[in-house]
Amino acid sequence: MMGDAPRPIAARARLLLDRVRGFREALERSTAEPGDDTFLATMDEFLGFVRASDDAMAWAEIERMGEVAANRPFFAPRVLRFTWAMESRTHASLMKEFSSQKSPTSPGPLLRAQPWGAYARMGETLDLCDFSGCRRAIMVGCGPVPDSLFCLHDQTAIPELVGLDHDSAALRMARELVCACGFQDRIRIVGGDARAFDYAGFDLICCSVFAAPRGAVVERIAATAGPGALVILREPSGPGTLLFESVLGALPARFEPLAASAAPRGRFMLSYRVFRLGAIQE
Ligand SMILES: C[S@@+](CC[C@H](N)C(=O)[O-])C[C@H]1O[C@@H](n2cnc3c(N)ncnc32)[C@H](O)[C@@H]1O
Repeated sequence: MMGDAPRPIAARARLLLDRVRGFREALERSTAEPGDDTFLATMDEFLGFVRASDDAMAWAEIERMGEVAANRPFFAPRVLRFTWAMESRTHASLMKEFSSQKSPTSPGPLLRAQPWGAYARMGETLDLCDFSGCRRAIMVGCGPVPDSLFCLHDQTAIPELVGLDHDSAALRMARELVCACGFQDRIRIVGGDARAFDYAGFDLICCSVFAAPRGAVVERIAATAGPGALVILREPSGPGTLLFESVLGALPARFEPLAASAAPRGRFMLSYRVFRLGAIQE
């Protein structure tokens, strides 16, 4: 029996775009207020669609049509709100688990098992390069659950780990967790805007894909970090570009590519890239 003829790219792009519009209409009907379960359920379904829709040629066509750039301002803040809701739940359960700990204990096993955080992905990134010479690392946009920092704590010997965030609730919650786990001697959480921070003295700089605007953040890193510093970026592709702006095409010249993870993965379709900063440009 003859199989169905493959659909042309334009038709595949139209089908994907119809789904995107359907999700957009459903999300427009929800309030995105804390406790809005319809919003959470629709976002969960939408992110399942993102993860499963890896037709790179169709997404390139959607991008060419201008639909990615047109839809990102709608989806990006909602993904942040959704992730906040998920991280708040994770925060509450970790605090319950760890607030009565007498001696330092890592939340790693619990974080590795949950799909929203970056703990497991950060662990995979550590296999890409040799980070053993690093002495001071910063997680830019650490969030209320600084899972990437917990991973660096557990899986490297980097003595000084710093989390940066500009949101007062995220700072309070991240500090609470660090203290509840007993990690405050090695992990410090500081307030500040990633676009204005001075990255001098850090030899490992890891950026949350949520730290925005992404272009301004990488410009600031290039303007202030020292030569030789390693930078980890999380980079969207295909449907992930509906959620996050890509910065690969506009990186400052100091960003010298060192390593990259394989195909994009996870709920947000991100790949991880490691760069070494070259000499400071005059
Ligand atoms: C949702 S959390 C996710 C962090 C997550 N644990 C990870 O590893 O990607 C992202 C955080 O980035 C912070 N953020 C976004 N833009 C920022 C900026 N310009 N400066 C500092 N923090 C920023 C937000 O406040 C938020 O808490």
